[in-house]
Order: sequence, then C-alpha cells, then structure tokens
Amino acid sequence: MTDHDAHAPDAGGIVVEGVARSFGSVQAVREMSFHALPGRVTGLIGPNGAGKTTLLLMLASLLAPEAGSIRIEGADPVHDPRAVRRAMGWMPDVLGTWRTLSPRVILTTVGRLHGIPRAAARARADELLVEARLEELADRPSRVLSRGQQQRLGLARALVHRPRVLLLDEPAAGLDPTSRVELRGLLRGFAAGGGTVLISSHDLSELDEMAEDAVFVDRGEVVGGERLVLARQAAREWRIRALDQGASGTSALNYQLANIGVAFDRVRIEGEIAYVALDRDEDAADVLGRLVRAGVAITHFAPAVGDIERTYLGLANGADPSGGAR
Ligand SMILES: Nc1ncnc2c1ncn2[C@@H]1O[C@H](COP(=O)(O)OP(=O)(O)O)[C@@H](O)[C@H]1O
Ligand SMILES: [Mg+2]
Repeated sequence: MTDHDAHAPDAGGIVVEGVARSFGSVQAVREMSFHALPGRVTGLIGPNGAGKTTLLLMLASLLAPEAGSIRIEGADPVHDPRAVRRAMGWMPDVLGTWRTLSPRVILTTVGRLHGIPRAAARARADELLVEARLEELADRPSRVLSRGQQQRLGLARALVHRPRVLLLDEPAAGLDPTSRVELRGLLRGFAAGGGTVLISSHDLSELDEMAEDAVFVDRGEVVGGERLVLARQAAREWRIRALDQGASGTSALNYQLANIGVAFDRVRIEGEIAYVALDRDEDAADVLGRLVRAGVAITHFAPAVGDIERTYLGLANGADPSGGAR
C-alpha cells in the first residue's frame, strides 16, 4: 500500500507527510501522512478531537504546521499559500457569518476576492446559484436558508474559482438523506472530472455513502497505515432474517441455508439473525432467490455493514482491509 508517487515532488492531489501541530500542551495533530489521489473522494474519518479540523486548516493554508510537509497539487501551503488557495476550495464546518448578505452577494464577493473581474464574478455567481438550486433565494439574506441550502451555498462558495482540490470539513453533518445523496452526486462528479476531494466526518456510516478511499485518524495520528482503498472487493456479510418460526426459527434458517448449498463456514448465527459471507452481489442475489424458492419467508436481507465500517472493523481485527479480508 505504499504510493511511491506520493514522494515525487509533482504528485497531484493532496500529499501529507509527517505533519504535526499542537496548541500549547495539546498535540492536536501528532503525525499524519497520507496521499489523497486525484479523481477520488477520500474520507478523513475519526472521532471528535482526532485532529481533522486542525489538519484541514493546515491543508487550506490557514494554519501553519510545526513539522512535516504538505503539497496541494504540488504547491506548499507554507511557502506558496497563494498557489494553494488558487488550487483548492475550502468548505469549513461552520460557514462564516455573512448571514445578512444574500447568496448572490456572497458568491460574487468571493469571486472578487479570488481576483475574478466584476462582470465575470457576477456571471459565475449566477451559474453557481443555478447549480446549487438557490435561484429563488438568491437575493434573500442567507440566514433564511435551511441547513441543506446553507451547505449547498457553502459548496458553491468553495467552487467559485474552479478549484481542482476540494476540502470539506464535516459537510454532511445534520443533512437530511436527500441532501446527502445530492452532496455525494456533486462530489463524485467533481472527482470524475479529475478533481481531488478530501471530506471529513466523525460518522462512519455517513462517509460510507460518500467516499471511495479512507484515511482513519485518532488522537492526532493516522491509524492502520496510510490511505486505504475501501474493502469493496472483499467478501461481505449479509444479514438475513426470516419470519419467526418459533423456537426453531433460526436453526431452520441455518438448515435452509445449508440446504440451498451455502457452505456452513460462511454462516454465522447470532440470535435470530443469520450472517452469510458472500463474495459478490450476484451471489447474494442468488442466495436470496434460492431461499425464496425454498419457501423461506425472508423479512430482511441486506449488507451487514457498509464498506467503510467493514474496512474499519478489518483494521481493528488486524486484517489487511484492501487485500481480500474475510
Ligand atoms: N485553537 C485551538 N486551541 C487549543 N486547542 C485546540 C484548538 N483547535 C483544536 N484544539 C484541540 O486539538 C484537538 C483536535 O481538535 P480538532 O482538530 O478540532 O479535532 P476534530 O476536528 O477531529 O474534532 C482537540 O483536543 C481540540 O480541543
Ligand atoms: Mg472538526
């Protein structure tokens, strides 16, 4: 899992090597190293206080690291913050308070701050208001925006100058499911165009929807090596429940699974639930079809955990999550 290109000076995306930063006696970031690749959405995952915001501030050239090196599309935020700010869009966890200003004014002003000429900044604002579906609220004070609308405004603000790298600090926190799906679509689209996305969260399931790669952090350090490719290819467990058939309900399910040809070492029973390890989604569809044809009244059939959670659990168990962990 070593990205040797991470050490090349012209490596694209985000390269973090041995970065540290403390506040007085608090070591917010002790030692973090990883490479977030262009064309991918990378999740920065860790509990509250893990150092995510501190790291992102350093990547955004808003806070100086005490040790280590950072490259954003090859640019160093310490020595060339202007190049970094050109290359990267930053969406903080709390949107600064321009609550009396309208989305249109905010987006135009940000464009002007990036050195875009007035007319072009206005045109860009119009374009982003459409993309963020904020046209109807474009001239209202931004404080009337809902949480989802504020997040869309925040993202539009980060995109004004067409950056190639997006840094987002907990953007999905407090979003309803529809807005989350929408955010995922936007980020995937940005990455598909060759952009680099680093998105933080303290919530595994939330990032599971969004990210393709993951960097797990805890107490200021990257845990389990550097960038992890999520364990999407490995076998996953499916959680199966059948209609209660009395005391023998689950053993009946166990029996039925054996009956339709599922190897016993792939099945694990916990209470009323059977967990079955299957290599591919097609196998899951096949097992479901066979169970139904065998007359088993299935009430639940779903992946037991999401990909990020699975990678994380694999880490905790000492497995290599990218290498066919079972
Ligand atoms: N400006 C600051 N002054 C003092 N301590 C800070 C400051 N910013 C962060 N910390 C501390 O650094 C640690 C990491 O915080 P942070 O980077 O905000 O973590 P996260 O974003 O993962 O929740 C925490 O213990 C936090 O209290
Ligand atoms: Mg934070």
